[in-house]
Amino acid sequence: MAEKKFYVTTPIFYPNANLHLGHAYVTTLSDVVARYHRLAGEKTYFLTGSDENAQTVIQGAQKAGEDIGPFRDRTVKGFIELFKKLNISYDQFIRTSDEAVHWPGVQLLWKKMTDAGDIYKKEYEGLYCVGHEAFITEKDLVEGKCPDHGTVPERLKEENYFFRLSKYTLPVKQKIESGELEILPQTRKNEILSLLQEGLQDVSFSRPKTKVPVGIPVPGDETQVMYVWCDALTNYITALGYGRDDALYKEFWPADVHIIGKDILRFHAAIWPAMLLSAGEPLPKKILVHSMILSGGRKMSKTLGNVIDPQELLTEYGADALRYYFARHISPFEDGDLTREQFKETYNADLANGLGNLVARIIKLAEDNLPEGTRPEPKGFDSKYTEALERFEVNRALEYVMVHVAALDLKITTTQPFKLIKTDIEIGKKVIFDLTQELYLIGRMLNPFMPATSEAIKKAVIDNKKPENLFPRKE
Ligand code: MSP
Repeated sequence: MAEKKFYVTTPIFYPNANLHLGHAYVTTLSDVVARYHRLAGEKTYFLTGSDENAQTVIQGAQKAGEDIGPFRDRTVKGFIELFKKLNISYDQFIRTSDEAVHWPGVQLLWKKMTDAGDIYKKEYEGLYCVGHEAFITEKDLVEGKCPDHGTVPERLKEENYFFRLSKYTLPVKQKIESGELEILPQTRKNEILSLLQEGLQDVSFSRPKTKVPVGIPVPGDETQVMYVWCDALTNYITALGYGRDDALYKEFWPADVHIIGKDILRFHAAIWPAMLLSAGEPLPKKILVHSMILSGGRKMSKTLGNVIDPQELLTEYGADALRYYFARHISPFEDGDLTREQFKETYNADLANGLGNLVARIIKLAEDNLPEGTRPEPKGFDSKYTEALERFEVNRALEYVMVHVAALDLKITTTQPFKLIKTDIEIGKKVIFDLTQELYLIGRMLNPFMPATSEAIKKAVIDNKKPENLFPRKE
């Protein structure tokens, strides 16, 4: 049988400022998915990166009083450091400022859309919201401002290239309705279908170079650069060598899943499929739309003062504790909440008292009573665990693992192996051996969620040696 492939992507992030907890969340969620598919033996490719040719990035550089080039490099360096600390196992980090890697494929896609008759020039007047990196309409405004960003949009009057998005309303709708392009969860599918029902308008796909100095040149017209979303969405294929050396493209495209936040659904589930249809390229198979992380029930925002820096939690608790919280206590499909207090409480309950304590108890019993060289016999995973992960219900899968942790704790209490070993050594040993077997399986199941903890548990069982305190209690 041919080897199964799996291609998963995160959104690419604007290097206009440091990443916050919401960005750390989507990247961790994607990493759990990637690691699970690797664990399942699939040849997995995991892509992330930065979306650099955007006005919001130019503004970020201006605010910092830096030139755009060094500003982007410095910010992206911070992204990569954060991902390293979070133990993100990406195969490639694409930068859309990379002229060698990214630009040829974007220009090729543009040419194909032009050849299909889907790019045309038009005089246009509209309101551009830099926060959205998109035109918005008069009726979206509240007291003259974009309600999401609280900013007054720029009124632009320009001659731009347009993409004939309207032509693809029906074809995209059909692909989504038939499930050929699957949108998860159903609520998001409904949302995009109702948008398609209204019909899509053609979109401006370029800006004058004089206004946006960092974009990708439009082939055959030096005066125009591409609209940032046209350039950004294409990263999913340029990263695979589309337009240069397309061996990876042939191997991994179409993507198995694009993981995105609900705020960028329209770009991914309407514009991107339309671009691919226009160019005659296959569509991604799935788009997984996750919800937002709130803090204390409200959107994290600097003005509310409830922004939590992922670095802060990472320094205090370590990567696996943060990964655990994201995966276990935030449902991909409902808005989730994180405050410092909730985080500490869960850490102490689930990890210090729960998992960490269980590992220490079992390995101590094994160290004292089992002979050296007792090898665990790997068991298969339960279908409840694998099926939840296949459906991206990472919180359900991790809940299943934690139910095992609690059950194992209970087993120690009921079987009392520390007493048993004194009265019936053989039965005592057998009980302890069984406990190590179960613990080993827990270690293996934790691999996608908490890779370092997973390794530490497996090693402790194999070496018959207690690891350092995995999760010291926090007061
Ligand atoms: N550059 C675009 C994406 C281009 S993809 C071809 C972009 N960048 S972003 O940096 O603003 O956001 C990246 C992702 O972070 C988005 O999917 C967004 O939904 C997600 N999040 C931003 N805030 C978030 C939360 N508070 N919670 C969860 N995810 C959040 O959009």
